[in-house]
Amino acid sequence: MLTGLLIVNIRCLVQTEDLVRSKISGREMSVLNTINDAFLYLRNGIILDFGNMKDLELTDIPLNDPLIRYIDAAGNLVLPSFCDSHTHLVYAGSRETEFTDKIRGLSYEEIARRGGGILNSAGKLHEISEEELFAQSMVRIREIIALGTGAVEIKSGYGLNLEDELKMLRVIKRIKGSCPMEVKATFLGAHAVPREFINNREKYVDLVIGEMIPVVASEELADYIDVFCDRGFFSVEDTERILMAGIKYGLTAKIHANELDYSGGIQAGVKYNALSVDHLECTGDNEIVALLESDTMPTLLPGSSFFLGLNDPPVRKMIDSGLPVALASDYNPGSSPSGNMKMVMSLGCIKLRMLPEEVINAVTVNSAYAMGLSGTHGSIARGKVANVFITKEIPSYEFMPYAFGSDLIETVILKGEVINK
Ligand code: NIG
Ligand code: FE
Repeated sequence: MLTGLLIVNIRCLVQTEDLVRSKISGREMSVLNTINDAFLYLRNGIILDFGNMKDLELTDIPLNDPLIRYIDAAGNLVLPSFCDSHTHLVYAGSRETEFTDKIRGLSYEEIARRGGGILNSAGKLHEISEEELFAQSMVRIREIIALGTGAVEIKSGYGLNLEDELKMLRVIKRIKGSCPMEVKATFLGAHAVPREFINNREKYVDLVIGEMIPVVASEELADYIDVFCDRGFFSVEDTERILMAGIKYGLTAKIHANELDYSGGIQAGVKYNALSVDHLECTGDNEIVALLESDTMPTLLPGSSFFLGLNDPPVRKMIDSGLPVALASDYNPGSSPSGNMKMVMSLGCIKLRMLPEEVINAVTVNSAYAMGLSGTHGSIARGKVANVFITKEIPSYEFMPYAFGSDLIETVILKGEVINK
């Protein structure tokens, strides 16, 4: 039974909103709303009220109702759960042998050309049953819940044929029904060109458009459509064809762009009104101008540029030009084998020179926007879903990205229920 949960004596309640914002841009990103010495009242899975402790008696909260459970957060902070708007966490096995190849000097693209990379994961995924894929994925789901994530986007793209893409998407659908997080599904048939089509990429694009998208859409297995638009993978022309087909079937674009080159992917995404364009290591002035004229959320994945040793995107320039920025984990076996959003915040600060306030905005409100959820997730606002976590005893919210290796999350609450970690 869902009942009320009243968290009292919160030393700092972080990312509060009286008016819900869909995204936070430019200079506003360095502003974070907080309430010191606060309470937070959750009921039926929703945030009903919050405010200063001294005003608690003045609220309508039935303080003596025996059905209300109290949590004393003394000395601790409360934050909205992280929204992770870009992951590939449904995959089979792992790829630590490629990790060693990288240490020995091979690049991500060289590994991919040798049949490693995404094709390696596609081979492993083909071999295992849907049941086993679900079991392996749920381990990662439980892991990220304990790390503070409350909403996650998950992509297909290790199938690369109709049957295996459907296997992945059915697993994502099953995850939606089996965990307390909000889950969004993205169809990424155009993640890599499968071996059989290596000299005939267009034929594979035809297959994605003619065979896969109609089935994925008719079985309602995806919310979004993605393409890896980059050097050595899919061209702008391929991307535009796929996005047009997806849009016809009601799928919103959300694409991989400009990780390896100035691929034109950012402009292609903007042209088709993508909800987000992600990676963006190769972002120049033209790309910034295109993004400024759009509703597309630039999303950075510092876990993968860190892991692959790529150049970092020009985040300071992007924010200083007035753009919003979201951060996500890219949790996947090849370029970012971690879904730790707290670590993503640390990388945002340390590698990208973002301020603690900016990274917190980037992993909450802005990443919620990048998965179509900023009306319901990503902040402490009345009427939003009651997804929050209570920290261990820490001195400030800046301590979260600063103490990059420590687990600082004490209690996870999703849909108003305390989750056993
Ligand atoms: O987002 N860039 C493309 N796709 C993934 C990597 C997938 C993989 O290597 O398995 C990414 O980094
Ligand atoms: Fe990715």
